[in-house]
Amino acid sequence: MIPGFYKLSIVQRRQQLMQTDFGESDMMALAGAVCDETNRLERMSENVVGALRLPMGILTGLIVNGIAHVVPMATEEPSVVAAVNRTARLINAAGGIQAEVMKPVTTAQIMLVICSACAQMLCDRIMSDKGRWLDVANRCDEKLISLGGGAFDLDSAILPGDDEWAETFVVTRLHVHTLDAMGANIVNTMAEAVMGEMVREYHADSRFSSIEPGMAILTNASPGRMVTASVSIPFECIEGICGIDGEHFSHLIARSSAFASRSSERAITHNKGILNGIMAAALAFGEDTRALGIAATDYACRHGHQPLARWTIGQASLKGTLRLPIVAGFVGGTKLGAPYQAALKLAEIHSYHSLCSVLAGVGLAQNLGALWALSTEGIQAGHMKLHLRKMG
Ligand code: MEV
Repeated sequence: MIPGFYKLSIVQRRQQLMQTDFGESDMMALAGAVCDETNRLERMSENVVGALRLPMGILTGLIVNGIAHVVPMATEEPSVVAAVNRTARLINAAGGIQAEVMKPVTTAQIMLVICSACAQMLCDRIMSDKGRWLDVANRCDEKLISLGGGAFDLDSAILPGDDEWAETFVVTRLHVHTLDAMGANIVNTMAEAVMGEMVREYHADSRFSSIEPGMAILTNASPGRMVTASVSIPFECIEGICGIDGEHFSHLIARSSAFASRSSERAITHNKGILNGIMAAALAFGEDTRALGIAATDYACRHGHQPLARWTIGQASLKGTLRLPIVAGFVGGTKLGAPYQAALKLAEIHSYHSLCSVLAGVGLAQNLGALWALSTEGIQAGHMKLHLRKMG
């Protein structure tokens, strides 16, 4: 943590961040003041006339898996950065957040159209040719294979015609280990190659002459990219940092969490608060925030809208756990931009594992910050103070 960071001017804050490793050029890149900006923007999108700028706030230190990360957060909502900094002090005093990241899998759907009488036969044929289709997919990215990733499994199912559309679809799901990448490009390339070959090969078989290509695209449902972040905060730590009775504070937080478990209307807002933090950091790191948001929302909605983070009272401690899919990439196109490289460098993120761990850690800390405010002084006291400052 950098004490009193919020009291400094922008120039002083930049100076604070410019230590030996994070120099002036990194700072200027992070601040969006790089001189090749026009070129960079031109390469990033189409019909570009300018850029939308968001304030980049700093979480001045959050310990995740034993490392203190300084996290840049791009957001227009000032209370997000203020709240997460306040909570990080408490979490850090308790030793920080522990995060676990599963080996990431992205899945593509290959949709073929076929007459209903042949659909089961086609499914069976695809499954008996499974090894061949995995080979076709893996030939698209030999580098990924050499590094230990690649397509490793597929399955196939029939979606019968219905009142909306009479045709039968056969949907093959291709599962791919994407290693450090988010994998959209790799997986879509594989899926298109497999679909093309399937249609060519099966069309030549008279039983499948009605086959037509539908589409090949990844699914943003991402159960193969789960991340868990957890923290345990002793009551005495809460007393020391917040000056509040630890047991009482924990009771208030756990009760607020229970409210989100019982009410989906509350869970939606609870989760929005978690995404406030994750999205702000993800934006600074150049991630696809829409993919992140829809995957998290899909996971939250498996049985009605459920809270992604829960808080309970443990042995003289407050325990919190956040579990959600985090769709992120440590390598890939957007990562080449200087601001994103600078953001990762500032945060000392050197792998996919630490990227996802930090994003989940920020989400959990953000949630505690919101519940802390909501169950004590209320959200408006701090929020309105910052909002009024914004209005000048
Ligand atoms: C506001 O952007 C986010 C909160 O509503 C989250 C929550 O209610 O938990 C404060």
